[in-house]
Amino acid sequence: MKILPSEITPYKNYINRRKFIKSSIAAGVFIGASTTLKASHLAEDNPFNSQLDESDTLNTFEDITTYNNFYEFGMGKTDPSENSSNFNPKPWSISLEGLINYPQVLDLEKILNKVTIEDRVYRLRCVEAWSMVIPWQGFPLAEIIKIADPLSSAKYIQFVTVFRPEEMPGQKRRLLPWPYVEGLRMDEAMHPLTILSTGLYGHDLLNQSGAPIRLVVPWKYGFKSIKSVTTIKFVDKQPDATWSMLAPSEYGFYSNVNNNVDHPRWSQGTERRIGEFKRRKTLMFNGYEEEVSYMYEGMDLKKYY
Ligand code: MTE
Repeated sequence: MKILPSEITPYKNYINRRKFIKSSIAAGVFIGASTTLKASHLAEDNPFNSQLDESDTLNTFEDITTYNNFYEFGMGKTDPSENSSNFNPKPWSISLEGLINYPQVLDLEKILNKVTIEDRVYRLRCVEAWSMVIPWQGFPLAEIIKIADPLSSAKYIQFVTVFRPEEMPGQKRRLLPWPYVEGLRMDEAMHPLTILSTGLYGHDLLNQSGAPIRLVVPWKYGFKSIKSVTTIKFVDKQPDATWSMLAPSEYGFYSNVNNNVDHPRWSQGTERRIGEFKRRKTLMFNGYEEEVSYMYEGMDLKKYY
């Protein structure tokens, strides 16, 4: 049975808190709020949150910001929160490049003035078979794509993380080939579920979560959701993506969450929700099947994992 997200108690607490913050902003009394809150839509208004069910409770801010994958700050789950304090996400700009009518370098502030920040509560399913439920703030990637105005030859988008070894200690070691890169097919990038996030729980993203702006693609394994994005490049061929370059037999370009296709070294049939002990069944496309499966019709998902 699906129930309205607003009926889930912890979620409701969150909504009430967001209402409070919103009305405080309207009354001009709230100080220290994240800039991302300014034009926020309330989560309960947002149809994109309807995939959640009664078993999806929000992970805590603490869990979400202390159990991370961000190899630029080290390989351990607590490394990103422990080693990222020297990273400076402000000011920030994003370079739009490649097969587009309007190549340009855009200040993040300018981008934020043009878009509407929304609340999107999404499941995040990591390829390592753990998951979380995260209340993001962000805006559809499609809005940036509109600004870039791609040529018809642009079939894919590649995303690049900033390269700053002085601020990102992991980049001084060869943990991965730097910078981290990821990619999406154009229809996946344009899909309304795909967002660029600038905050969570009403706070600007902390460094460990991919400050100041990261991708969130909720039906794909977490490694597709590249952090601290500095370049968005429009290309005609399937672009390189860090993990599928490193180990193509383990991490495909598509990497849609798929409980029927196991990782060569472990099952993808179940997952551990951070904060829970009992494992739960992994849902096809991470629970977003209705919304996204049409994009893969006719594709053999065992081949295109
Ligand atoms: N982006 C960059 N630049 N570097 C990374 O190491 N890790 C990925 C992804 N984005 C990663 C990245 C992986 S493996 C996952 S599971 C998610 O970020 C984790 O996001 P979270 O730490 O916000 O949960």
